[in-house]
Amino acid sequence: MIERLARQTVLALDPYEWEASSEQIAARHGLRPRDVVRFDLNTSPFPPASWDAAMEAARAERRPNEYFDTAYAELSALFGDYLGVAPDQLVIGAGADEILDICAKTFLDNGDAVVISAPTYSMYAICARQLGAVVHACPLGPHFAPDVDGLLRAAAATRAKIIFHCDPNSPTGNATDPADLERLVAEAPCPVVVDEAYAEFSGRSAIPLLARYPNLIVVRTMSKAFGMAGMRLGCGVARREVAALLNRVRPPNSVSVVTARVAAAALCDIPAMQTQVAALVAAREPFAAGLHAAGAHTYPSVTNFLLTRWPDPAAAGAVYDRLEARGIVVRNFARHPAIPGHLRITVRTPEENARLLAALAGRE
Ligand SMILES: Cc1ncc(COP(=O)(O)O)c(C=O)c1O
Repeated sequence: MIERLARQTVLALDPYEWEASSEQIAARHGLRPRDVVRFDLNTSPFPPASWDAAMEAARAERRPNEYFDTAYAELSALFGDYLGVAPDQLVIGAGADEILDICAKTFLDNGDAVVISAPTYSMYAICARQLGAVVHACPLGPHFAPDVDGLLRAAAATRAKIIFHCDPNSPTGNATDPADLERLVAEAPCPVVVDEAYAEFSGRSAIPLLARYPNLIVVRTMSKAFGMAGMRLGCGVARREVAALLNRVRPPNSVSVVTARVAAAALCDIPAMQTQVAALVAAREPFAAGLHAAGAHTYPSVTNFLLTRWPDPAAAGAVYDRLEARGIVVRNFARHPAIPGHLRITVRTPEENARLLAALAGRE
C-alpha cells in the first residue's frame, strides 16, 4: 500500500549495493570481525595522527546536546587554507557523497540529462536517477582515458545539466590528462563536477582551473588520504556564486561536532597526512608486483588502489572467494559488464598487503 505512494523514480531505481559489513563477512566464514581486512573500499589503514587528541578535546567539550556552528566557519577556514580558496567558495557536507547529492539537487529536475564516463564511481548515476534525471554513459577509451569528444557530444546532444567526472577515476586508478580535463571543462555546455576523492595520492587538482571556468565544481573528501571515512566529511569547491547556490541546498547539520573537531585537527597537521599518503604510494608498486606474480594483470595507478585483471570471470571469482573466506575483502568486478574478470584492491600497510599475497599463494 505504502509502496504505491513512492515516487516512480524511487521504485525504478537500481540502488547502491551496500557492501557486506565486516561482521557479516566474519559470521559467514567463522572469523572474528576484527580479523576482517577491507581491501574493497579504498580507505586508509591509518587513522588521522591527531585522532586521540581531537577525540579527547571533543569529549572535554561535553556539548553533544547542542547543535554546533551550522555555518561550519572553523572548518571552512581550514579547508580554504588547505585547498587555497576562500571559505565562501566551499560547501561542506557529510562526505563527498553528500556533496555529489547537493550538486545533483542544485541542478537537476526530473527528465534532465547527466553525462558520465563508464566505468566510474556508481554514485553519480544513482544521485542523478534518484531525481529522475536520465544518465548517458560514454565508455572510457584506450588506457581508460575519458572520451572527451564523446562526453562533450553527449552533453551537447542531450542538453545535459551536469557532467560528473572522476579524476583520478575509480575503479580504474588512472588520472585524466590535464589538457583533456581542461578541454572538458572549457567546452562543456553545463557544470562539470570533478570528483577528486583520490587527489592527495595523485598530487594534482583541478582547483586552479576555477580561476578560468565558472562551470567547474571540485569535490574533495577526508575519507581517503586523511583516514576519516567513518567520520564523514567532504567539501565542494566552486566559484563564490556557485558555492552560494550549492549552499542553498546543503542540509544545515549533517556534520557532527565530533567529526568537525577531528577534521579541524587533521587539517591543522597536513604533513602527518602527507606522510601516510607517501607510505601508501611507496607500498603500491611492490604490492602490484606481488599481484602480478600471483597471476594478475595490474594497471598503472596514481591512487591508493589497484585494478587487477584475472584470466577470466571465473578465475577472478575464485580469487575473490578464496580471499573472502580468509577475511580479506576485495572489490569484486568478476561479472561487471564493462570490466569482467577484474578485482579492485586497496593498497594497505606492507604487512596487510603481504597477508593478501600470502593468501593468494596458499600460504594462509
Ligand atoms: C570516487 C569516489 N568519490 C566519492 C566517494 C565517497 O566518498 P565519501 O566517503 O567522502 O562520501 C568514493 C568512495 O569510495 C569514491 O571512490
